[in-house]
Amino acid sequence: MSRYDGASASFHEMWRDLEPLGRNAGSGGYRRYAWSEADVECRAWFRAQAEGRGLAYEVDRNGNQWAWLGDPEAQDAVVTGSHLDSVPDGGAFDGPLGVVSSFAALDELRGRGVEFGKPLAIVNFGDEEGARFGLACVGSRLSAGQLGVEQARRLTDADGISLPQAMERAGYDPTAIGPDPERLARIGAFVELHVEQGRALDLSGDQVGIASAIWPHGRWRFDFRGEANHAGTTRLVDRRDPMLSYAETVLAARREAHLAGAVATFGKISVEPNGVNAIPSLVRGWLDSRAADQATLDTVVTGIEKAAREYADTHGVELDIVRESFTPVVEFEHALRDEIARILQGASDRLEVPVLGTGAGHDAGILSGSVPTAMLFVRNPTGVSHSPAEYAAEDDCVAGVIALADVLEGLTRR
Ligand code: GLV
Ligand code: MN
Ligand code: MN
Repeated sequence: MSRYDGASASFHEMWRDLEPLGRNAGSGGYRRYAWSEADVECRAWFRAQAEGRGLAYEVDRNGNQWAWLGDPEAQDAVVTGSHLDSVPDGGAFDGPLGVVSSFAALDELRGRGVEFGKPLAIVNFGDEEGARFGLACVGSRLSAGQLGVEQARRLTDADGISLPQAMERAGYDPTAIGPDPERLARIGAFVELHVEQGRALDLSGDQVGIASAIWPHGRWRFDFRGEANHAGTTRLVDRRDPMLSYAETVLAARREAHLAGAVATFGKISVEPNGVNAIPSLVRGWLDSRAADQATLDTVVTGIEKAAREYADTHGVELDIVRESFTPVVEFEHALRDEIARILQGASDRLEVPVLGTGAGHDAGILSGSVPTAMLFVRNPTGVSHSPAEYAAEDDCVAGVIALADVLEGLTRR
């Protein structure tokens, strides 16, 4: 019997309970959109985990869920957690791995008989992926004052349901959404464990790594407006077809990103009237672009915008570009990162724990402006993420739980 069988059993039991929630039988992927029925089920699961462990459960003004061991009002709390919502047809690990590992790490620490010198909390941040309302990290952005209350109130989903309406329908009170500086001021350190969304750990042969930085990233909406007309009777020269300028812009995005060593993706599109035999009147495409530094990202996005305007002109199409969200580069706090590295190195026979940057956004990145934050990554053997094929091996998940437990033990003692 290994000394980590307890952590492994607790992880498994939670994983088994959470796994079916919001899973689409056809695709095998998760559709846990913020405030949807599936999200409500995941939230009920979180609450049951908290209460089952005798933790003080609360929901903050922005709908983020908290489970407290120790006094929630005390200063210098150590907080861990992640999110439970998903992208369309997302994988099982992005978000839930961090939440499940947090509860399992607490179980491990209780098994070790650790006496906590500081309050400890587990959090589930609402709407991290932004799949429903188009803006990522809504829960943490609101709390950190990085999203205006009026702007949040105006967010709507594809069916025209506003964020406050969606919260209300899910049984959460949206009246007080907004900055929560007192709560954040009580947090001494936030550590988010996450599945790696790349293959750096697989290539280095490590189960767990520490985050160094998050690339600056943003989302831009491109509205190409042309003229709806008959697909069979309109001569090619008479058309004002926005699909053409959109298609050329997609290729330009790829080219600009390639030249700059960045990434650019059009992963979502909506077409009006969306008929097979009609030239579209509107093609709306969303660009997601990210780069290692701000100047590179600016160059890429400016290049794509310029190309898009030229293509729009060529086809007699109008173009509006709106930046819907932007997250600047995040460099995780060095002191906390170094402390975590020391804790992890001290707890194993490893000389070094790999430190990795990432192009993925996280609540830890949003909070880093208000609170010392850090992230742990767990190996992903294929690097695939935001897909039903996302995966992490059982042993690596348990290694993540143990690493998180070691970190929480070290941080609550300091
Ligand atoms: C969230 O996972 C993002 O990076 O978009
Ligand atoms: Mn994600
Ligand atoms: Mn995530």
